Amino acid sequence: MPRDVSTPAGARAVTAVAPAKINLHLGVGDLRADGFHDLLTVYRAVDLWEQVTVALVDDDDPDVVVVSGPGAAQVPTDRTNLAAKAVDLLRGEAGSGARLAIRIVKGVPVAGGMAGGSADAAAALVATDRLLGLGLGRAALEERAARLGSDVPFCIRGGTALGTGRGETLAPLLHARAEQHVVVAIADGGLSTPVVFAELDRLRAERSETGRDLPRSGGVEALVEALAGQDPARVAGLLANDLEPAALSLMPALRKTLRAGAEAGALHGMVSGSGPTCLFFCADREQAIAVAAEVSETGVAREVRLTHGPVGGAHVIDNPQQT
Ligand code: C5P
Repeated sequence: MPRDVSTPAGARAVTAVAPAKINLHLGVGDLRADGFHDLLTVYRAVDLWEQVTVALVDDDDPDVVVVSGPGAAQVPTDRTNLAAKAVDLLRGEAGSGARLAIRIVKGVPVAGGMAGGSADAAAALVATDRLLGLGLGRAALEERAARLGSDVPFCIRGGTALGTGRGETLAPLLHARAEQHVVVAIADGGLSTPVVFAELDRLRAERSETGRDLPRSGGVEALVEALAGQDPARVAGLLANDLEPAALSLMPALRKTLRAGAEAGALHGMVSGSGPTCLFFCADREQAIAVAAEVSETGVAREVRLTHGPVGGAHVIDNPQQT
């Protein structure tokens, strides 16, 4: 019989939030034998959040996943949902027979290259750990997180961090504190991360046959140094995303989105991670408001939002948003 794990007195439900990520640098190496690519990335957590509530329900209630917020219809509600995988992992490890319902309120674009699903997993790990009274420390949670996806440990950690391996090995960049204002242009539709990585492999193979290799981003030293300073233009000049040509190849309309941001005067525009969300980096909040308004008017994006970073990682909250 599975052992029931005691919960802190009165805690029938715990809610946690986890942030979206952007990649200030995303260097993609070659395809590895395990199907992943070696990455050299600079992650930054930004102020868009996924909210996940994990609730103890009665023994004969089924485990359910309920999703609300923008794009909710595209999110699976079976056990393939990353938050459900996170709950199942910790509950199984604890030998708990508890019935756990999951409620997700989306604040990060679905399949948008901003780690919305990974943030769900991160928030679910933190909430389940607290609800079941497991007391796993951050290192143990990040180890479980890495099993669920390459970006999940960063969604737990937050801030700004160097990511290596397949993205799961983190080194914090504690000096990278200056606030950065970013306009987020959300596309109509999503892109699948594995499909975008595969498209990059295809483009690289095709280009190398012609003797004109696709350019690869270099090191991150200059960016890391610039992040310690206060000059957003210097940082903006050092941003890079090796996945961008692949996202543009799969969704050529994104060129128009990038052009709209450039014409609006953003310091730099690029595809976010595997896309199709586009990011426009701005000098300050005033400029971000102006760029957002102008990009919005062109009608190139389904939705335009303002965000900023760095922000902290996944954490339990007391007053969940009810929508
Ligand atoms: O780690 P995660 O499950 O988020 O990755 C989704 C997919 O993205 C992987 O199955 C793989 O195809 C691709 N990927 C990759 N290299 C990475 C991270 C992800 O090829 N470093």
